[in-house]
Amino acid sequence: MFTKQTVRDIDLHGKTVLLRADYNVPLEDGKITDDYRIQQSLPTIHYLLEQGVRLIVCSHLGRPTGPGDTENSLFPVAKRLQQILDRPVAFATDCIGEPARKAASTLKHGEVLLLENLRFHPEEEANDPEFAKQLADLADVFVQDGFGVVHRAHASTEAVTHYLPSVAGLLLEKEVDTITKVMEAPERPLMAIVGGAKIAEKIDVLHKFIEIADFIAVGGAMANTFLAAQGVAVGDSLYDKADVPVARDLLRRAAAEARKRPFVFAVPHDAVVAEKIDKTAPTRIVDFSAHVIADIESYPKRATAASGKVHAHEHILDIGPFSGSFIAGGVQLANTVIWNGTMGVTETAGLQGPIGPYAHGTELVIEALLGEFGHKPFTVVGGGDTVGYVEARKLVKAFGHVSTGGGASLELMGGRKLPGVEALRNT
Ligand code: 3PG
Repeated sequence: MFTKQTVRDIDLHGKTVLLRADYNVPLEDGKITDDYRIQQSLPTIHYLLEQGVRLIVCSHLGRPTGPGDTENSLFPVAKRLQQILDRPVAFATDCIGEPARKAASTLKHGEVLLLENLRFHPEEEANDPEFAKQLADLADVFVQDGFGVVHRAHASTEAVTHYLPSVAGLLLEKEVDTITKVMEAPERPLMAIVGGAKIAEKIDVLHKFIEIADFIAVGGAMANTFLAAQGVAVGDSLYDKADVPVARDLLRRAAAEARKRPFVFAVPHDAVVAEKIDKTAPTRIVDFSAHVIADIESYPKRATAASGKVHAHEHILDIGPFSGSFIAGGVQLANTVIWNGTMGVTETAGLQGPIGPYAHGTELVIEALLGEFGHKPFTVVGGGDTVGYVEARKLVKAFGHVSTGGGASLELMGGRKLPGVEALRNT
């Protein structure tokens, strides 16, 4: 249960509100390519405007080098917000100082102002109290709704709360509530499908899943590190050499858990490989199931048994059809699924459409999650790239919950405290 006060718990009439959103959206040539985060901030904005507040919105965008970094300006976001809200959105060319003060002072009740990128000032990431005070001086109340950034202790997530009554927005409440519920009281069986590139940022969450899930399936380049840990030759595939011991440790823990209770930790048994990442490159399926061992303790004895082999110059680019079907089968048994990370390289388009040659594993998982094979579990989709893919496929609405947070959702699932949430008023 969410234990922080929200916009509903505070009298906002006649107030000026500083709203922290996460408008860190992808831009190409100054155009927003995915406005999911903006769309998800709307319920809070509408609620605040219904209360007749003067609304000042702030956010970061990217990791800019300084004020002159126009590529990371939030101006395109102001334009998009204005379009979506169908009302004027003023823009201040700096988030503090004269431009911000002047724009804020002319703002009327029911009007919206977006401040320029907070990270144009290094004081934002340094959680600087002086900088936070300057932001706070613009308003009477602080509302935190940038779920994607609450794992950072920055001036606009932490220090600012020392100067203003600070409560949560509706998106933050929904994100924390939904994710906490699937981690603490899921409708079982609970399955976790974890992919993406790196194990490093998912270690905590993998440990947590080994504790609480009934079935874990790994895919993506991250799975290559698990394969390497099991003695499978991964050729020229992307994997984290330094994290092989971590992967081995996770496999040991998973094996120990499986001896205690019904629990499956599935590493891919086959893969799609190619010599280069190119939609025209010939691919082949390698079945390395004889290498993949159920119990890490028997490594390396059984790992030497040969079947298919990834050659030295080949890359693993997707899970194979057997692994995909195995995961899709697991989904039929699950009532709750947490999905984070694609199963292969999904950025490469195909010869005849957007779905490329290494996206079939991910597509099969999506079909299963959306009930194409008969059963549809409640699915929480987390993580930036996964959401980007789901958004590009226009499937966001089909899932139970698609998180706006990448790192934040992983940290919350991993059991970490989020500084930007902790700092808010308790109920
Ligand atoms: C994100 O995109 O995950 C959030 O906006 C946080 O951005 P950051 O990783 O640059 O802090």
